[in-house]
Amino acid sequence: MSLVEISNLNAWYGDKHVLKNINLEIPRNIIFAIMGPSGCGKSTLLRAMNRLLELNPNAKVSGQVKIDGIDVYSDKIDITWVRRQFGMVFQIPNPFPHLSIYDNVAIGPRMNGLVKNKSELDQLVKWALEKAYLWDEVKNDLKKPASMLSGGQQQRLCIARALALKPKIILMDEPTANLDPVAASKIEELMLELKEDYTIVIVTHNPQQAARVSDYVAFLYMGELIEVGETSQVFTRPVHKLTERYVVGKIG
Ligand SMILES: Nc1ncnc2c1ncn2[C@@H]1O[C@H](COP(=O)(O)OP(=O)(O)O)[C@@H](O)[C@H]1O
Ligand SMILES: [Mg+2]
Repeated sequence: MSLVEISNLNAWYGDKHVLKNINLEIPRNIIFAIMGPSGCGKSTLLRAMNRLLELNPNAKVSGQVKIDGIDVYSDKIDITWVRRQFGMVFQIPNPFPHLSIYDNVAIGPRMNGLVKNKSELDQLVKWALEKAYLWDEVKNDLKKPASMLSGGQQQRLCIARALALKPKIILMDEPTANLDPVAASKIEELMLELKEDYTIVIVTHNPQQAARVSDYVAFLYMGELIEVGETSQVFTRPVHKLTERYVVGKIG
């Protein structure tokens, strides 16, 4: 069974139909890219997966999203459980700027009762910062505010914060769009490392980035899923003319 199975997913903002009958399966321990031009519905698709979309009162969703076989839209489901399955990293790094580096990672596990005592929490924070390739750079500054970090470091802190909650899958919405090339390539390296233990979905409007990092890729265009498959296949032998035009840079 794939980790995530999306079927007949539709989404609207008011009357505007922005996701049109999406069917998609996301296998485990891979990097799955969702690519497409700006405005095609990529962020909406991510937010439909972890039910962040319903925070917008204008948004409406129909269809199914299953994680490990469990429908996140079922009436019986606990919404906090759903959100915990998905770690989320946004386009603009959004650590809590006034909280310390340590507390940015610790706050989630503390609030969710994932640790029994301070030493377990210390261990978890260290583990998450190591996993996010940040520990060595911050281990002597754990009490300093997150706002002192560079953009790339802040994004890795956000990844550590997500990891500390032990999600099944990490959703990254254009995680490098606001970073310089060096910081961006660090995040890409980190993603390749993380896929040993996690499944990562990255949204990108940049087909080169999808080609560099992903194992599977889906091409979304005007709310429709045009093509999905192994990245090597989609980039070398796209089935659809639209995909071909997109990957060579003729769209978007
Ligand atoms: N909060 C919103 N209210 C109304 N329309 C929205 C909202 N967010 C996005 N849209 C529209 O939905 C479509 C898909 O947006 P989005 O999922 O953000 O695309 P992408 O992430 O691919 O750029 C776009 O046409 C966008 O203008
Ligand atoms: Mg977006």
